[in-house]
Amino acid sequence: MARSPTGLSRTADKVVAITGGSSGIGRATSLAFARRGYKAVVHYNSGRERAEAVAQQILTAGGQAVALQADLASVSEVRELAEAIASNYGQLDVLVNNAGDPVRRVPYRDVSEELFDRTLAVNLKGPFFLTQALLPLLGAARGVVVNVSSDATREGSGGDNSHYVAAKGGVNALTLAMATELAPLGIRVNCVAPGTVDTPLHKRLSTPERVQRSAQGNLLKRAASPEEIAEVIVFLASDAASFIVGQVIFVDAGAGLSGL
Ligand SMILES: NC(=O)c1ccc[n+]([C@@H]2O[C@H](COP(=O)([O-])OP(=O)(O)OC[C@H]3O[C@@H](n4cnc5c(N)ncnc54)[C@H](OP(=O)(O)O)[C@@H]3O)[C@@H](O)[C@H]2O)c1
Repeated sequence: MARSPTGLSRTADKVVAITGGSSGIGRATSLAFARRGYKAVVHYNSGRERAEAVAQQILTAGGQAVALQADLASVSEVRELAEAIASNYGQLDVLVNNAGDPVRRVPYRDVSEELFDRTLAVNLKGPFFLTQALLPLLGAARGVVVNVSSDATREGSGGDNSHYVAAKGGVNALTLAMATELAPLGIRVNCVAPGTVDTPLHKRLSTPERVQRSAQGNLLKRAASPEEIAEVIVFLASDAASFIVGQVIFVDAGAGLSGL
């Protein structure tokens, strides 16, 4: 196996697709893969300008990237995205199912069927059917899938988030099932479950006080930067992680441990 002096495999000619590459963790992940020489598909939903800026940043640095749009809540759009990925590069080595959204913070007793369905569609149905649609490419590459869930699946809430926690718990369980069924095809599947990360998600959905309280719940008493999550995703996709399969890695500075 070809390895660089850092122990990471050589990545020239490898292609990665990052859902939700237009913002936050996905943006940092797109740039981190591009720095290793991957050609990047930077997926977005509503953030066209932001995704194109990420792709342009990669191009300016001498890399290759394309921005592609799809609403992952729609299976037909998911399948069109898979076709667009195939027609752009004809190859896919790494899929990062990063896109996600709690949609709204609502107490459990008030969650509507519409909110529940939308949240599960974006966070769980999207990665389920996108990975399925990309199996021919991922199988041909003996590729890697990294899902992104949340440490709220261990913490229980994150605050008025039961619909989101249910969806992300599904992502954790789906990771185990995908890993089991796809390992025989040579596809390695894992999941990263971040703690509190300083991204636009919180600017939309959380007060600064809530973010502060949440960050105080881990052993480092701070939120992660998007880059701190991106580096773990890149590691899991690399050959340095070749024996890690079917794991949910909590990247949350020990959130929930008492520290006593
Ligand atoms: N930030 C945290 O504290 C934290 C903690 C645990 C887990 N996570 C998870 O980490 C992942 C990234 O979150 P982030 O904090 O980086 O959030 P973010 O900055 O809000 O970015 C979310 C990304 O998901 C995309 N997205 C949202 N709805 C979509 C849809 N219907 N179809 C397709 N794409 C959609 C967005 O695309 P557009 O902007 O282009 O619409 C955006 O690129 C998510 O899965 C999130 O649940 C975050």
